[in-house]
This record gives sequence, C-alpha cells and structure tokens, in this order.
Amino acid sequence: MGGKLVFGVAVGVAVAACAVAAVVVGRRVERRSKWKRVLRILEELEAACDTPVKRLRQVVDAMAVEMHAGLASEVIQVYHVYAAVWGHFRCSYWVVLLFCSFSLFRSEKGTFYALDLGGTNFRVLRVHLGGQRSLSLKHDVEMQPIPQNLMTGTREDLFDFIASSLKEFVEKANDPDQLAARRRELGFTFSFPVKQTSASSGALIKWTKGFSIEDMIGRDAAESLQQAIDRIGLDMRVSVLINDTVGTLAVGHYQDPDTVAAVIIGTGTNACYLERTDAIIKCQGIFTTFGRMAINMEWGNFWSSHLPRTTYDVDLDADSPNPNEQGFEKMISDMYLGDIVRRVILKISQESDVFGPASTLLSMPFKLRTPLMAAMHEDSSPELTEVARILEDILEITDIPLKVQKLVVKICDIVTRRAARLAAAGIVGILKKIGRDGTSGIAGGRSRTNIKLKRTVVAIEGGLYTSYTMFREYLHEALVEILGEEIALHVILKPTEDGSGIGAALLAASYSSYDTVSVDNSL
Ligand code: BGC
Repeated sequence: MGGKLVFGVAVGVAVAACAVAAVVVGRRVERRSKWKRVLRILEELEAACDTPVKRLRQVVDAMAVEMHAGLASEVIQVYHVYAAVWGHFRCSYWVVLLFCSFSLFRSEKGTFYALDLGGTNFRVLRVHLGGQRSLSLKHDVEMQPIPQNLMTGTREDLFDFIASSLKEFVEKANDPDQLAARRRELGFTFSFPVKQTSASSGALIKWTKGFSIEDMIGRDAAESLQQAIDRIGLDMRVSVLINDTVGTLAVGHYQDPDTVAAVIIGTGTNACYLERTDAIIKCQGIFTTFGRMAINMEWGNFWSSHLPRTTYDVDLDADSPNPNEQGFEKMISDMYLGDIVRRVILKISQESDVFGPASTLLSMPFKLRTPLMAAMHEDSSPELTEVARILEDILEITDIPLKVQKLVVKICDIVTRRAARLAAAGIVGILKKIGRDGTSGIAGGRSRTNIKLKRTVVAIEGGLYTSYTMFREYLHEALVEILGEEIALHVILKPTEDGSGIGAALLAASYSSYDTVSVDNSL
C-alpha cells in the first residue's frame, strides 16, 4: 500500500514537472516566435528603407530632371527692378528671385532687423553692418517658441504675437536709428511656399510643418506682418520678404563667393541654388544683365518613384494635415523622423509584447520628437540608460530588456540613415543640374576626367544637420559614395549660423530706402 502511494506521488510529481516543463517550453517557443515576428518587422523596415548608391543616383537624376522641367515651365511676373518666377516642381512651387540683390552686397552700413519665422520657434535679430564686407556679422538674436494654439489660430493672433515680441526686442536695445529718427528696416524670413510678387511681398500658397491658419492662405505675408507692426505702434518697415534658403544662400555667398546653393534640414527641408539666367527658358532675353538668379526649389515637395517609401510613410502622410504633399520633407526632416520611429515601435507593440503592456501614449501622433529620437540613437552608454529614460518618460514603456532597447536604437538608425542619404542625393541633384558633380550636368556628354573641378560650397543650416552627428555623418558618407572621393573633395558643406535671419537683414540693407552704402567703399 505504502509502495503504491509512493509510486503514485512520484508519478504525480513527474506529470506536474512535465506539465510545467511543457508550459515553460511552450512559452519559450511562443516568445521565440514573437521575437522572430519582431525581427521580421525590423528586416522589412530595413529593406524598405534601403538606399544603395544605385538608388541614390536614380534620385539624383530624378531631382535634376525635375529641376530642368521646372525651369521650362514658369509663369514669369516682371516687376520694376525685381522679378519673381514661379512654376511647378511636380505639384510644388518654385520662386525665382533676381540675383541682382546679392550682387549688390558691397559695403552696406547701418543696423537692420530680421524676423525669422518658419518652424516651431521664431527668431528676431539685429544685424550691425559696418560698411565693410566682413566674414563675421555682428548680430544679436533672440529666440522664442510659437505657442501651439497660434500655429493653428488666426492670422492676426499670430502676427500680433510676433510683432509684440519684436517690439520688446527693439526697445531693449540702444538703437542708433531711433536717435537718427530714421525708420527701422526689417527683412522678413517667412519659410513657407510663397508666390512672390515683389521683393517685399508674396502670398502664402500653403502651410507646411504643422502650421494651419486658414485665413492666411493667399494673403501677403509681409503685409500681414507690417499691419501687426503698425497696430502695435512700432516704427519699422518690412523691406524684403524671403525664404530661409534664400537668406542662407545670401549669407553663404556674402561670406564665400564660391557658394552656389543653400540647404535647410530642420523642422522642414528645402534648398535654393544659383542658376544661370540663360538656363531659365522663360527668362531668356529678359534678364540678360543678371548673370545668375537664386531659385527657391521648395524641394520638400519633390517626389519620385525611386524614393524608398514604407507603409509607415504612407500612414504618416495620410494622417498629416497636408496629405500627398511634401513627400521628400516627410522622409527627411525633423518634424517627421521621430514620428516614423514611433509608428514602427507601435506596430511592433501591436504584434508582440516586447514593449510590455500597450502604452496609449505610443498611439499619440508626434509624441516622440526627433531630438529625443536622436538622443536615443546616439546613446553610447553600455546600459542604454538614455534610451530607457526616454521610453519611460515619453512613452511610458518601462522595464524592457536591453535587447529590445537595442532594437529601438536600430529603428532610429534605419530611419535617420535613409533621411540623411536622401538629403545627400538631393544636394547632388542640384550639383548635377549646375554641372558641379563632375559630369557636364544633366545633358551628360563629357567624361568625368575632362571636367575641371571647381571649389563648390553649399551653405547648410538646420538642427538635423548641425546638432545630430549621426545624421551629418551619414549625409557626408553618402555624398562621397555618390560623387566619388575625388569629386567630393571639391564640395564643401558649410554650416552658416543664423544665416536665414542674417541673410534677411543683409537683403533689407540692399533694398534699403536710405543710402546705406559706405562712402569709402573698398571693394
Ligand atoms: C517650407 C520651405 C522652407 C523649409 C525649411 C518647408 O516646409 O515649405 O519654404 O524653406 O520648410 O524651413
């Protein structure tokens, strides 16, 4: 009897042990197959974002071809001393500004203001021009965030807020123009697609970068600012209206005459370059006195079937306030990269439990901002403490194993690498169009070896490039891959500090209604 009992207990224990083992093994198998699913999502992402040099060259060609097509199709509006040309870059807009204003830079003198509006912050600047062309321009700058409600409110509210900050800034300073009883002059950098109608006027075509103020569409941006300035009782004239790329190109060119283009990679992205007037088909014979003109490409709206698009991009676009627009920008710029990463993490958390219980914050659009994504990407601590902190603080994802944190870093890497490489392809597209890529431009013809390589400077601005080391490194790497080492040596990407704002002040000086050119002009 006793023996039977012992045997029975032993069998019971063995059965229980087997059951436990089966559960453990089952869980392990299930975990493994979930992890496999996670890895599959990652592999699919990597494949969809792949940018081998062959594909980048296709993007380069598509960009250069679009640029050619754009030049042939503008509607030209001619003004007294100024011209604006605009046309379609796919469904985008080009604004062509007369280059004469840049060539006027000689030795302007005086204090000029600038207002730089184009992202989540705006900046007010005071630039002192001493009558001598100088590499470092003395300036004061103040930055302020734009309250979210003003980005989607009314035209008057936005401009009144900006004008009052401008007034405070002006009043804090010891302003020589006040003593001279001279009206202050301001260059306005308004970084959205604008149909430029003169040096100091242009109507907003559409908003980008999360702004959406309905009563501003079709309205003149400079006039809206001037009205707010008048309402607040500030004695100041808005004398030029420009895009941030044009301001950056202006400063770049002022400081280094080999500058042929300017690129912004910040909240949004765009580029501007110098084009030979005779290459602008509709300008032929009209602006013969101006050698080159600055063209604002609005490349954020560039699209090509060669761009590596994922389902996350498709969803991001569909959920955005401007679907089917700014496709290139949505793959490259600060406004969107963090959100692409968030979408991938969300997809993984829906298909597995590697991120723990579902976090509702993970479903919130734009919850993960790009600077935080960059911080996770660049976390070099062995325990990935920054990754853990950001996931916990921002998305309430806690206690995940190191291998899952590494997965997050990998996702950031894939998304950033694609963005940086596409930006590099865009830059080479411009170089190709103007014959600075080592070939003879888009028409081809001469072989690389017969081309005399000229020093070619591209002014560059925007937080993604200046503050995100991995992004910058990937961009440089791709530039060398596409161009080849020898040609890449002649291409210099030069960051300009506050160029978009300072450029507006420089142009305000060029367009000043006072005689601002120093008498002892040494140039
Ligand atoms: C705007 C451009 C601007 C760029 C960079 C884009 O969203 O359309 O006009 O230059 O952002 O600020």
